[in-house]
Amino acid sequence: MDWDRLIQAARDARDRAYAPYSRFRVGAALVAADGTVYTGCNVENRSFGLTVCAERVAVAKAVADGKKSFRALAVVTDTAPPATPCGMCRETLAEFAADLPIMVANLAGERREYRLRELHPAPFEWPEELPVDAS
Ligand code: THU
Repeated sequence: MDWDRLIQAARDARDRAYAPYSRFRVGAALVAADGTVYTGCNVENRSFGLTVCAERVAVAKAVADGKKSFRALAVVTDTAPPATPCGMCRETLAEFAADLPIMVANLAGERREYRLRELHPAPFEWPEELPVDAS
């Protein structure tokens, strides 16, 4: 994986973050199986709960473009240590790539690599036999 390039793409996406409320900018860059890179930034809203994280924006862009399997994700923030994806984003990523390699980085150049499975070891599994709702 060309992590330098991917981190740069996430940094560029972070510059486009819309975060006037938290002032916490996040950028993400997701590589699809065919090598296409989909970027995302956090998009906040004055009704705070409507905010969308950078990682989920990248996933939504990729899926809308017909991509559902992924090779790697880079996330850039300006915190030390670099921030890892939130729980909602971990679950969203696990839907498509349960053991995705994830590099988190900050603007100072600090970086750390994880696998999604270590950040989110027990994602929700849709039961094979759907329970009959007797209510
Ligand atoms: N945020 C992300 O974009 N990704 C995460 O994984 C965690 C949080 C954003 C949401 C909000 O705009 C800001 O960071 C502060 O929570």
